Amino acid sequence: MERTFILLKPDCVQRRLMGRILARFEDKGLNVVAMKMLQITPELAKQHYAEHVQKGWYPTLEEFVTGGPVVAAVLEGLEAIRVVREMLGATNGLQAAPGTIRGDFSSSRQMNLVHGSDGAESAAREIALYFKPSDFCDDTPTISKWMRAADEA
Ligand code: TYD
Ligand code: MG
Repeated sequence: MERTFILLKPDCVQRRLMGRILARFEDKGLNVVAMKMLQITPELAKQHYAEHVQKGWYPTLEEFVTGGPVVAAVLEGLEAIRVVREMLGATNGLQAAPGTIRGDFSSSRQMNLVHGSDGAESAAREIALYFKPSDFCDDTPTISKWMRAADEA
């Protein structure tokens, strides 16, 4: 099993899309193992987007991502990091394939609704940035045996 970090960005919360987007991850069979609502500070934004802080477009990204409440969550599942990234689609909603979250709901490069970790290292770093060990609710849903064969996990 693998864990990945997602962030429902302020556009997702303001557009009342939280439930529909979380439902997609639940429908896929991913388990929510930690979740909270918060407002990102400029300091946290710089840590979260450390790789982009020097980019010319970073100030507007920070303004956007600190501009309203967000929902942070950790999803668990087989190959969860790759699966979630593919469910999100390309960064720019105008280019994201139909059927992906960004392709179906976003027409923006910046307001693309959901962040997802892009690799094992960033997943570990981002999970630790938002959650402490006691925030996790470890639980194996009883439906798991109907989601995949025993020898697949
Ligand atoms: P990036 O890591 O390239 O995208 P992804 O979220 O798909 O991993 O960029 C991080 C976020 O920064 C992206 O989700 C939206 C925002 N962004 C802009 O605001 N302007 C830009 O030109 C780019 C490339 C990204
Ligand atoms: Mg990225």
